[in-house]
Amino acid sequence: MTMGYYAPTNVHFGAGAEDKVAEVLKAEGATKVLIHFGGGSVKRSGLLDKVEKLLSEGGIEYVELGGVVPNPRVSLVRKGIELVKSEGVDFILAVGGGSVLDSAKAIGYGVYGGGDVWDFYCGNRKVEGTLPVGVILTLAATGSEMSDSSVITNDETDPIYKRGVNTDFGRVKFALLDPELTYTVSKYQTACGATDIMMHTLERYFHQGYALDFTDQMSFTLLKEVMKNAPVALEHPDDYDARANIMWCGTLSHNGLMATGNANKGDWACHQIEHELSAEHDVAHGAGLAAIWGSWARYVLSVDPERFVKLGEGVFGESDPVKAIEKFEEFFRSIGMPTDIKGLGLDFDEAACRTAALGVTFQNARKIGNFKVLDTEDIFNIYMMAAGLK
Ligand code: NZQ
Ligand code: ZN
Repeated sequence: MTMGYYAPTNVHFGAGAEDKVAEVLKAEGATKVLIHFGGGSVKRSGLLDKVEKLLSEGGIEYVELGGVVPNPRVSLVRKGIELVKSEGVDFILAVGGGSVLDSAKAIGYGVYGGGDVWDFYCGNRKVEGTLPVGVILTLAATGSEMSDSSVITNDETDPIYKRGVNTDFGRVKFALLDPELTYTVSKYQTACGATDIMMHTLERYFHQGYALDFTDQMSFTLLKEVMKNAPVALEHPDDYDARANIMWCGTLSHNGLMATGNANKGDWACHQIEHELSAEHDVAHGAGLAAIWGSWARYVLSVDPERFVKLGEGVFGESDPVKAIEKFEEFFRSIGMPTDIKGLGLDFDEAACRTAALGVTFQNARKIGNFKVLDTEDIFNIYMMAAGLK
């Protein structure tokens, strides 16, 4: 039993980290860069202008592609691939949140691999390389800045699919992490981000087999830091300490560190169950996770109540596992997150729960989870609980 830990990303963390962009691009041998960004926050903040100026001063050519939306779409990825090819781009710079970075990773895979980029996401082909990617992160949430993951939504199919691909080629070359760039993130996205960060640690914590106590203790500390700092960031968006602690927790929560020494990489069922919600209903990923987690936790509690007891004691000093689950939910609600499907603005009936459960298992073709392996019926039950129907 061994677990890998591969973290090759060159990280610069702290106020002004983005000032290094030309230097790190040159160190990577970049000569012409695609600057990839989202719906406009980087224009409003002046970050895009700043980056372009730094590149020009550094003698690095660039082209731009904006328009990445939350739950990033394969249609824009395809545009990016064409642009990179026609312009002779040799490096992709994501300037934005997790969606922009995931889109940049997808463009990298598509350019390197040729053919239909969706093949990598639906499992028809393995990623065997990528155009190099770097990021200036503007939102602390997904941990994509050091993770091996990219999650893309196929808006060209009916039903719409949201699929992730995990590969070490998805580990970006550099991540410039300036907590000050997250001062403008809305309260809602700040709360979604905090939830996602916590969930990346919780999903790893819940697994079958050996758990290294040191990793458990790091996990508890990370969870407590996020729960301490998220309310501060909501109240004072420009509190450097709060933003910095959240940002670094976000990076370490999903770069593999929180599973080191354990028997495996964790459960991830809540992510799969959430991705089905954000694919079909375009909800924010963090909010979807908060809406599901409590129902999942109650459903799987009996598998290993002691694991819940350790978590409750480590995070809240609470040895009653049911109360510990409730405390996590209370926290989510305190930062404005929903703890059921209704809270996402969705009205799920039994048929919707069934359809979503079948979507998660690819129409009964797979099971998910590790702490408890879940089939379609289990997932249906969890959706029913989260919808208040059970
Ligand atoms: O598009 P712009 O205008 O930039 O606005 C964005 C977007 O509307 C805004 N925003 C970002 N930085 C900002 C800002 N607004 C003001 N000031 C700033 N500094 O925030 C909104 C949400 O952005 P998005 O990138 O979608 O959020 P997030 O970083 O949470 O990414 C979510 C996506 O990542 C996937 C999710 O499923 C979802 O598709 N995930 C990716 C993972 C990975 N690659 O490792 C792991 C995660 O579990 C997750 O699945
Ligand atoms: Zn996540």
